[in-house]
Amino acid sequence: MDFVSIIERKKRGEELSADEIRAFAAGAADGSVKDYQLSALLMAIRLNGMTDRETRDLTLAMAASGDMLRPEVGGVPVDKHSTGGVGDTTTLILAPLVAACGGKVLKMSGRGLGHTGGTIDKMESIPGMRTTMPEEEFVRAVREIGCCVVGQSAQLAPADKRLYALRDVTATVDSVPLIASSILSKKFASGAGAIVLDVKTGSGALMPTEEDSIALASAMVRIGALSGRKITAVISGMEEPLGSHVGNALEVKEAIDVLSGRCDDRLPLTRVSVYLASHMLVLSGVAPGLKQAREMLWARLHDGSGLKKLREMIARQGGDPRVCDDTSLLGTAPVKLEVLCPEDGFLAATDCTRLGYAAQRLGAGRASKEDVLDLRVGFVMHRRIGDRCRRGENVCTVHASDEKSAARAAGEILSALTFSAAPCPPSRLIWDVVDENGVRKPGEDELG
Ligand code: URA
Ligand code: CA
Repeated sequence: MDFVSIIERKKRGEELSADEIRAFAAGAADGSVKDYQLSALLMAIRLNGMTDRETRDLTLAMAASGDMLRPEVGGVPVDKHSTGGVGDTTTLILAPLVAACGGKVLKMSGRGLGHTGGTIDKMESIPGMRTTMPEEEFVRAVREIGCCVVGQSAQLAPADKRLYALRDVTATVDSVPLIASSILSKKFASGAGAIVLDVKTGSGALMPTEEDSIALASAMVRIGALSGRKITAVISGMEEPLGSHVGNALEVKEAIDVLSGRCDDRLPLTRVSVYLASHMLVLSGVAPGLKQAREMLWARLHDGSGLKKLREMIARQGGDPRVCDDTSLLGTAPVKLEVLCPEDGFLAATDCTRLGYAAQRLGAGRASKEDVLDLRVGFVMHRRIGDRCRRGENVCTVHASDEKSAARAAGEILSALTFSAAPCPPSRLIWDVVDENGVRKPGEDELG
């Protein structure tokens, strides 16, 4: 196929055929199409968009560019995917909780990207934990214990791997059809039958405005419907870190604290985790409705079976399950530094992307692909948006490898916080739900 004519057609805003789109995905995966031609087509797509039919064809072609799992897990394989957050350790809470309710969570997760954290990096703070395993063993673990979380193999949607790297350096990341096909191709290839998407919105999100987040969520729900997969998308707030802990070992600790019942049930991290999990149970047919799903989840959280499931999952993946009883086994950073509130008032806003980068620069994330992480570092927020703080009070504790990086992070964190003299409302947690019936606000009875 003549690739120049494909670029030419998209440049003119025409609709590409399924064959043309397959040539694009195959050429990206096997290396037969050059970087500059792929880049030109990506920019034409970024500027002229794609119809739902084209986006579906691109999603399916990228999924089919590598291995396609057809996992027999004894139920509907269910997955949750977040567009990327800060202090967002919902996966480590909801995967064991959903499994404890009888769901089958088959999850391939990523590493941290930019200012956002990644579940695979977090899990590696658990001594001995394996984040890669042969497909057969992974599927058996899901079948037998109900959840397993591993990294994406190189054979999973290789077309996306190449295209994503090109998009990153050609200013073509921010395109709804390209983001939707990138995310969904990996989910389809890993064999998920039901997918809950957590589309973050706010100062720490890929899509900062609610309108853009709804557009992306709606596109992904439509592509799911056109491809025979069940998808529900939840728009959730990322105006501030979701949990109080940001950093790899710190976030695993917070997930364990939540599952052990040591935390208040009203904690935003817990509420968002239970909310996403309730959609996973309904979408995969384990619970008949959101209300029943929620009751099952709270019961499993309070009776300790969620934590028991996390212990089983860790043991199955070669990790030391004693971390669930003694989180000090995750390791602690040698230097701790308090960030003091500069004035009396209320925390009014955070620049959540800057907070994420402060953690990255401490060593919790990578600036380049080769960087080695310090899994112990990060910070713990002691105030949320809307909370009162008095001058001189500790608003955040930095965990660092040395004094110098601790002091730099403290300055960066303080500059990312806005205080106001007047009271201000807490940040919104669940903004909207998008499914095949359209966009709606979550009901009060769904959220408790
Ligand atoms: N995450 C992905 O996997 N792909 C995108 O394009 C954006 C976020
Ligand atoms: Ca409790």
